[in-house]
Amino acid sequence: MVRKRMDFKNGVLFQKEYQQFLKSKFYYPDVDPQHGKRVFMDNSGGSLRLKAAVEAKVEAEKFPDCPERIHERSLYLKGLVEEGTKQIMEIVFGAKSGALMTELTASQTMFQAVGTIMENVKWGTNAVTSSIEHPSAYDSMEYYCEKTGREFRVVPANQVTGGVDVDEVMKYVDENTCLLSIMAASNISGNIMDIGEIVRRAREMNPDIYIVSDAVQHAPHGVMDVEKLGVDVMNFAPYKFFGVRGCGFAYVSERVATMRHHKLAGKNPDVWELGTSAPGNFAAMMSVIDYVCEIGTAEVKSDDKRAVFKAGMERIHLQERALLERMLNGTDEVLGLRNMKGVHVYVDTQDLTQRDLIAAIGIDGIGFTECVAEYQKRGITVYERVNTSIYSKRIVEALGLKGAIRVSPMHCQGTDDIDYFLKVTSELAQKYTK
Ligand SMILES: Cc1ncc(COP(=O)(O)O)c(C=O)c1O
Repeated sequence: MVRKRMDFKNGVLFQKEYQQFLKSKFYYPDVDPQHGKRVFMDNSGGSLRLKAAVEAKVEAEKFPDCPERIHERSLYLKGLVEEGTKQIMEIVFGAKSGALMTELTASQTMFQAVGTIMENVKWGTNAVTSSIEHPSAYDSMEYYCEKTGREFRVVPANQVTGGVDVDEVMKYVDENTCLLSIMAASNISGNIMDIGEIVRRAREMNPDIYIVSDAVQHAPHGVMDVEKLGVDVMNFAPYKFFGVRGCGFAYVSERVATMRHHKLAGKNPDVWELGTSAPGNFAAMMSVIDYVCEIGTAEVKSDDKRAVFKAGMERIHLQERALLERMLNGTDEVLGLRNMKGVHVYVDTQDLTQRDLIAAIGIDGIGFTECVAEYQKRGITVYERVNTSIYSKRIVEALGLKGAIRVSPMHCQGTDDIDYFLKVTSELAQKYTK
């Protein structure tokens, strides 16, 4: 029986030995080989790398063979792309139909998807997104609204939760909305959006509406289920999901798959592969899938790999929720962020079941950038999202902030990592807060 998210509102930690075993499967979790000790808490900017994923990529890259030949090695490389495509669609996205789009980055998949929908769909006078989208989602919507002569509508964020409310979205969606794009979880607050309900309500109002969801932030923390959600497009970035840089993957629904798009004329209408894919990227992602399934195997006995993968992601989610709870509330021995004088946890909701493992914080008396440098001196890598950066200005301001230090650990890290981070934070707060 798989434990459900709601069953454990404060999460469930892995056994310590198991957590350390999982950590040992990643490169450099505690030390940078050149720069020494560091606890890596910037996984939202690019996660720790699974050794098996990097090795699988390297292995595939060793061979020069074109995957389009009849030789054994070529067939093997082609097989990686074919099997990888199938696994990403069925196991990661939970798709039963549609197609996989691959690009160099997740941002490129977003522009391709939004552009294809907005240029093919002839009806609709507006398109809707939210104020806290990553620039790839926000800017692509703005760009194609301008290009196709549609009104660009922006749903404001909920400044208390750091998310986007369903009722608020519905104030902007109408029967003339051709495309709605709302991210699956915020990369600043970690708030998980209720995409299922957003889709349901939007389609109730407008059954033909196209719906896109950027899952780059959420994918490494929870299950994606495009069938259950009913979205037309969902994307993720393997390098933020324990894997490698150099590719972005997106699911496109059947009705989007066959829209006129960039492809070779001789290929079938639903083919999105353009040119020769890198088999290593697919091999790396399959290693990530196997890793998650290994975690899932301890939770559920099933021959259905998607079910095992889901169980693995659910388990990861529970471990991360327990780490988040500890980071916010601390223990008898160490103060949590919520209880430290001079420390602010922004957009902090009590209900952790709707959050990924991210905290947006600030410390009185010290600027965000300087504070990140102070953390680094003490062996902790975190990152500031501030209103002087093109990536975060609109988003932090939409949340009513000037900026925040984003703390984003991941499931393979342990309570010792969180406690060390809390100890350093307390030290900084005492030093800088008057
Ligand atoms: C929520 C979200 N969407 C999209 C992206 C873009 O990913 P990429 O840089 O791989 O295109 C990011 C990257 O930070 C992100 O956090």
